[in-house]
Amino acid sequence: KPEREALKRRAAELLKARGAVLVAHYYVDGDLQDLALETGGIVSDSLEMARFGRDHAAQTLIVAGVRFMGESAKILSPEKRVLMPDLDATCSLDLGCPAEDFTAFCDAHPDRTVVVYANTSAAVKARADWMVTSSCALEIVSALKAEGKKILWAPDRHLGRYIQEQTGADMLMWNGACIVHDEFKGLELDLLREQHPGAQILVHPESPASVVAQAHVVGSTSALIKAVVEGTAQEYIVATDNGILHRMRQLAPGKTLIEAPTAGNSATCKSCAHCPWMAMNGLQGVVDCLERGVGEIGVDEPVRVKALACIERMLDFTA
Ligand code: 13P
Ligand code: SF4
Repeated sequence: KPEREALKRRAAELLKARGAVLVAHYYVDGDLQDLALETGGIVSDSLEMARFGRDHAAQTLIVAGVRFMGESAKILSPEKRVLMPDLDATCSLDLGCPAEDFTAFCDAHPDRTVVVYANTSAAVKARADWMVTSSCALEIVSALKAEGKKILWAPDRHLGRYIQEQTGADMLMWNGACIVHDEFKGLELDLLREQHPGAQILVHPESPASVVAQAHVVGSTSALIKAVVEGTAQEYIVATDNGILHRMRQLAPGKTLIEAPTAGNSATCKSCAHCPWMAMNGLQGVVDCLERGVGEIGVDEPVRVKALACIERMLDFTA
């Protein structure tokens, strides 16, 4: 702990000295979340990370999250240096949607408006008409449906199915999943609910249908935090990456937070619901970025320009 405190102080000094700002996701290590907030940065969902990075005056952004978050920041602000604590931090949705295969899929369905989740590579976004995150997907797909558009959706099949059910839009889906949320189990959640009859069930829409069906609130990470802060219940069962509990505990200290069951944590492992790529972000990585300039994100200019259009469309829609 004293070493962690010293490292955190060092990172804070470096952020100041380099005029850099830390943009962190709710799933990363609690020390990084605290550091971001204590140094004028942000902890947020992927939509607000993108907006904050674009709008902040700092010329160096340290993005603590997974690769697509750093890429989105660079796409929006090519003049800024964008650094990440670990460039190998990826996402199963991004890995499961290679640009070449995705392009062929789009080419086979030219009549469809292409809507991609933020959790994709810059090259996939370059082929899309719209990017969405879980906090704006419903509104954007509803608006497209109202215009009579048929949609090609990629890559998360659970989020896609949820949006399709809610909006009734015509959606052709890619078959991807998040390895973390895919593990939440409906049957075990049902049993857990019986033990906590007053609990509110909070679910990220990357979770399977059997889990979403039991939710009181389905939403992005920031929507789930809001639900805990504003909710009148005492207990909350949370079906998303357990990195989010750090911020929930800070903002709603009196409330009881219970992790939703996964195949692993129902038997032996108490904390299986944690993204291995988010976990690659640490204080040392932030110090290394600032001290040695490692972890810089680059996006090829032709790809960047094409990807920019679909991200800006989303930011304008949600402004
Ligand atoms: P949010 O946009 O809700 O923060 O989700 C990002 C993510 O990677 C969820 O797994
Ligand atoms: Fe990707 Fe899932 Fe990790 Fe989010 S939690 S970054 S969707 S693998």
